[in-house]
Formats: sequence, structure tokens, C-alpha cells
Amino acid sequence: MPMVVGGAFRPYSGFLTRPSAHFGRFGWIEGRGRPLWPLLRPPGWGSSSRGEIVMSDTLGDYALGHAQQELVRLSRQGQLLAPFTRSVFAAAGIGPGVRVIDLGCGGGDVSLLLAEMVGPTGRVLAVDRAPEALAATRARAEQAGFSQIATVQGDLSDPKNLSLPEGFDAAVGRLVLHYVPERAALIRRLTEVVRPGGALAFIEMDLSVNGGSSPSPLALRMLDWMLQTFRRGGFEPDTGSQLFGLFRGAGLEAELMATSIVGGGADSAVARMIVDVVRSLEPQIIAAGVATAEEIDVDTLLERLRAEPGAADRSFYLPRLTAAWARTATV
Ligand SMILES: C[S@@+](CC[C@H](N)C(=O)[O-])C[C@H]1O[C@@H](n2cnc3c(N)ncnc32)[C@H](O)[C@@H]1O
Repeated sequence: MPMVVGGAFRPYSGFLTRPSAHFGRFGWIEGRGRPLWPLLRPPGWGSSSRGEIVMSDTLGDYALGHAQQELVRLSRQGQLLAPFTRSVFAAAGIGPGVRVIDLGCGGGDVSLLLAEMVGPTGRVLAVDRAPEALAATRARAEQAGFSQIATVQGDLSDPKNLSLPEGFDAAVGRLVLHYVPERAALIRRLTEVVRPGGALAFIEMDLSVNGGSSPSPLALRMLDWMLQTFRRGGFEPDTGSQLFGLFRGAGLEAELMATSIVGGGADSAVARMIVDVVRSLEPQIIAAGVATAEEIDVDTLLERLRAEPGAADRSFYLPRLTAAWARTATV
């Protein structure tokens, strides 16, 4: 096993499962003065012979893509979610010296946070299906001087054949189970991957749950575009409230915590985040027939939010986050 045997942590260069065809399903188009824009085409989601957009009813790839813009968005989102994430991981027992697998690492925000928590004597193995995500994670780890982070490509959608190195102390994931159809099987598989008495921890969203009195009508519309696009694309929008049952199905009694990230006013980081998600998801929103480019008019969204009556006094909520964590059996 090419890992953690003293000295520097050597990146594992092999594929955990068969090399994924993920990369080949990205098309690229120029978008209205923006940098290259990802047009994600999951299997079965493309143009029909008659030229209209057809969608798969199966779960495809990661809907938001991995363009530089989306990786930057993930990093801003990571800052908003960091305090909650840190407290969940600490409650799950992650601290100095712990060896942890980060599933669906995206731009590396969770991996970097874990690297701080486990320190130089711990290990972080960042797993993602997308080579762009792994490259971003490696670059940021290197820039931060975190030699305890290694990356490996792996596809979580086939848990039975997912070959992860065993004996890690913990496996965690944030905002990844939406995209994994066999999430119950994945959680069960992870109980075999971590050492006996190790920890599992996940933080997931319920896209359909967002709140506050007197919400912004436009923000609600944007959140609904996201929800409908996830549903029509075959992604599960509400995985946070499934966590307890998923853990129980794997024989684990999870501890739970939930939060809503909230920002004050239309210029808050949260209001901007909602706009940024729409920006990243725009091609899929349009392809799914949920809203037209004219309705979205992405470049004016923020100013339209600001122009709503009472915008400066309003609270803006991201959808609710739920965390679940548990220890695996000791025998
Ligand atoms: C919303 S991002 C979350 C990134 C990171 N966990 C965070 O919280 O910042 C989801 C990530 O999961 C990855 N992902 C989705 N489905 C996957 C699968 N079947 N196997 C591996 N990675 C997957 C995507 O490529 C994407 O990078």
C-alpha cells in the first residue's frame, strides 16, 4: 500500500477504480464575456436528433462542473462553512495525528481544513472523480505547505468496487452524497474502510429547506431554480435529512447537528453565494427547462437582489446543513 509508511506521504498515483470517463463529458463554450464556461453533459443529457435538449433520469456527473470559476466559488463557500465543519469534525474525534479520507474533495477546502486539524503527523487522502478537482487540491496543498495531503482519483458511484486503502481512522465528506445514487451502500462500505472504532462524518444539505421570515422573493426563486434543476437532473436535493437513516442502515447510531448559514443584507457573502451558485449552474438550469437565460439574466442578479425593497435589512439563508457522525464498531 503506497501510503503513510514513515517519511513524506507519497501521493498515490493509481486509479482506485477504473479510470473515469468524467473528463470526456465536459464540453466548453464561451459565455457572454465570461471565461470558458463548463457545459456539463451527463450521460443521456444532450441534444436529441431533433435538436432539443434531452435529460437523463439517471444520476450523472457533478452538476456544477469544475471550471476555475466553480472552484473559486467552492472556496468561498468553504469559508462560510468552515466553522460548522470544524466543529463537526472535532466532535467526530478528528485531531492531531488522525489519518482521514476526504470523499469528494472538490477544490480542496475540506482537505485543507482537515490538514490543519490533523497537523503534520496526521494524513489526509483527498478523493474525487474529477481530475480538475484533484489538481486544484494538490496545488492548494502545496501552496499551504501541507505535505500531509495526498490525492487520488476515485468514483464513489460504485461502492462495492471502490477500493480505498483500509485502516484509516476516519472518512468524511461534505456536500457529496447528493451525487452518489448508492449512498447507503457507500456508507456501509466505509464502515469496512475505516479501522474498527474509527469515525465517519458527513455534512450534507437539504436544498428544499431554507428559511427566515420575509425572505427575498428573488433569492427564493434562485433557490427554487437550483432545487428543480437538481430534481430534473436526477440528483437528490435533500441528503442532509437522510443522514441519520443512512448511518442506521450501516449499523451506526449517528450524532446529529444542523445549521443554517445566514448573511445580513443583499451584499452579504451569503447573498453573493446564492448568485454564484446560479452562475455555475446556469447551463443546467436552462438545459433542464427550469428558467430561460433571459429570466435568469445572471449578470444582473446581484443588482436585482439589491434593488428589492428592504434588501439591506433582510437575512439571506443558504439551505439547511445537517451533519452526522459516528464511530464504527470496535470488534
Ligand atoms: C459540491 S462539491 C463539494 C466539494 C467539497 N467536499 C467541499 O465541500 O468544498 C462535490 C464534489 O464531489 C465530487 N463527486 C461527485 N460525485 C462523485 C463521485 N461519484 N465520485 C467521486 N467524486 C464525486 C465532485 O466531482 C465535486 O468535486
